[in-house]
Amino acid sequence: MEIRKVGVVGCGVMGGGIVQVCAQSGYEVVVSEVSDELLQQGINRIKASLDRSVQKERIKPEVRDDILKRIRGTTDTGDFGDCGLVIEAAVENLDIKKKVFAGLDKVCQAGAIIATNTSCLPIGEMAAETGRPDKVLGLHFMNPVPVMKLLEVVRAEKTSPATLETGKEFGRSLGKTIVVAIDTPGFIVNRLMAPQIIEAIRMLAAGEATAADIDTAMSLGLNYPMGPLALADLIGLDTFLFIADGIYAKLPEPQYRAPKLLRDMVSEGKLGRKTGRGFYEYNK
Ligand code: CAA
Repeated sequence: MEIRKVGVVGCGVMGGGIVQVCAQSGYEVVVSEVSDELLQQGINRIKASLDRSVQKERIKPEVRDDILKRIRGTTDTGDFGDCGLVIEAAVENLDIKKKVFAGLDKVCQAGAIIATNTSCLPIGEMAAETGRPDKVLGLHFMNPVPVMKLLEVVRAEKTSPATLETGKEFGRSLGKTIVVAIDTPGFIVNRLMAPQIIEAIRMLAAGEATAADIDTAMSLGLNYPMGPLALADLIGLDTFLFIADGIYAKLPEPQYRAPKLLRDMVSEGKLGRKTGRGFYEYNK
């Protein structure tokens, strides 16, 4: 089935980024949120991101306006009926994602593909909620979506070869470089990234180095664009805790066990950039 229209469930940081790159690549996009307020916040973030691109003269104002015209917001997932592909980007909670998948299966046309942007949760369990597990796969985008070149295309046990190919082709049409992963905890990127961030938090908690020195060591010593603690702040400490716990639940190795400092910071509302306070302070 040809993909002309894409549905996106969730217009948070990841969902909004996915909506933006799809619309920029010429797709019609329908995006849903659970309330009008969250929908408006998400659409405003997309507008602000496109406005920045206009200010930096990367795109012309009329191109921004055309991109925005291709985006339609809704609070009714019934509006996904004519989408060739729907990408779920709701919170990292398996029960919620399973419910979303069961609902999407009812409203999506028979040939449509249903994808998840989960960063670590078992895709096979979401697929099992549908009558079309062969048409379910993972499309794991990186944050910030408009900037990052990678897309992990994740093959679950029942994903058909045709669905996998369509997913890869779709990712390329967004200008992303594709890697194929299988449905294992954390896929490729988070499986390797999580232990580094966790170890950095342990070093900080043990007073072995300052946050700034840990990050400088990794960014200058390994040529990373930012160190692991700054990256955790960018991802969101609550999201990173979901990722660590999600991987640890399926792969209980010590390197995936979330440190106490991380849990404490999350319960204190220090979630990183989005709350203005994480391992560093940010002007909101
Ligand atoms: N949306 C759109 N564009 C953005 C953006 C956003 N949210 N954030 C930054 N940019 C653009 C800027 O406009 C800028 O563009 P120009 O160079 O054309 O002006 C460019 O990106 C660089 O931004 P900045 O100059 O503000 O800052 P920077 O050079 O420090 O780059 C960064 C910021 C792109 C975030 C860079 O630090 C980086 O690549 N960091 C690592 C990010 C990373 O590793 N992401 C993966 C996280 S893991 C993940 O996502 C998986 C998961 O499941 C959690």
